[in-house]
Amino acid sequence: MALKYKDTDPVRLSDDGRTIIVLDQTKLPEEVVYLNIGTADQMYDAIKSLAVRGAPCIGVFAGYCIAVLASGYTDLDNAQFDKKLREDAAWLESSRPTAVNLSWAVQRQLKLLECGISAGITPVKIAGRLLEEARTIHEEDISMCMRIAEHGLSLLNDGDGLLTHCNAGALATSRYGTGLGPILLGRERGYTFHVFSDETRPLLQGARLTAFELVNAGVEETVVCDNMASLLMKQGKIQAVLVGCDRIAANGDTANKIGTSGVAILAKYYGIPFYVLGPYSTIDMNTPKGDDIEIELRDPEEIRSMWYKTPMAPAGAGFYNPAFDVTDHSLITAIITDKGILRPPYDKSIGQMMRRR
Ligand code: MRU
Repeated sequence: MALKYKDTDPVRLSDDGRTIIVLDQTKLPEEVVYLNIGTADQMYDAIKSLAVRGAPCIGVFAGYCIAVLASGYTDLDNAQFDKKLREDAAWLESSRPTAVNLSWAVQRQLKLLECGISAGITPVKIAGRLLEEARTIHEEDISMCMRIAEHGLSLLNDGDGLLTHCNAGALATSRYGTGLGPILLGRERGYTFHVFSDETRPLLQGARLTAFELVNAGVEETVVCDNMASLLMKQGKIQAVLVGCDRIAANGDTANKIGTSGVAILAKYYGIPFYVLGPYSTIDMNTPKGDDIEIELRDPEEIRSMWYKTPMAPAGAGFYNPAFDVTDHSLITAIITDKGILRPPYDKSIGQMMRRR
């Protein structure tokens, strides 16, 4: 089944506001299946299992999660309401440590909770405010993606060959995406790009999700194995690399899907621009540098057995499955945000942008 990026809502509130409807990304591209999620455990599992994934999308989801959970606690007194919601928030935040958008959205909601509680507002009213805030977070993400797409497109030329890693499109965000935004917007404006998508081992977000989105959008798309980037670059097929991000440290070091830093090192070697695209909510001024970012470790079975009829390595072999790596800021040509294009030195340009907000 085809899904168009402009109609794709990986996360949305149900009509009665009691649950969240989530497009189950673990089933794509074969099946388009929606989950109906209402409890804290279901929310945790949806994030952990990657049914909901991509840093900005996890943030949008987390905003709705806090609102939906609050609406289930409105018969409690203020102290109990506050306690229950904070416990759930901590549980949700522990589901994935690297993407900062999760804690960014949860903390944004908890600030609102704190204001409501200290002003003595009733749980019903606070729950209403949390719902409004969740909608605002979602709307902001849609408009930020649009602006990122505009800024990113200004750096590309018609006919470019582009390389991307993982999935930073509508499934990972809202509508245009971040890393894929300039490509989708460019296509609408008559540009022809040829996009190479790294398959992105071990969970294949590039092959399953990026290819799905780009094919549906009518973009020329070729899936390649992760270890083919060097050859493509040497052959002159790549004019720019576009990737999303899960957390940008204050000095510009950037966490993104495992394998991203290797692509950046190759791009530097071949003199190809390496662009990181993301909203301001992915910049974490409390994290001074990349070494301070916690890297999520995932189940080794994702490597050993997930895509194979029988395990792909002998019994006794060990497996190591970090989900992200950090690209050093020195390898990044520009960081493209909703507020504009940031250039090195990033400690200065990021600081200036965050102070202007
Ligand atoms: O583990 P995932 O699929 O959530 O990882 C996603 C990525 O690494 C994306 O590139 C990143 O979240 C940016 S999405 C706009």
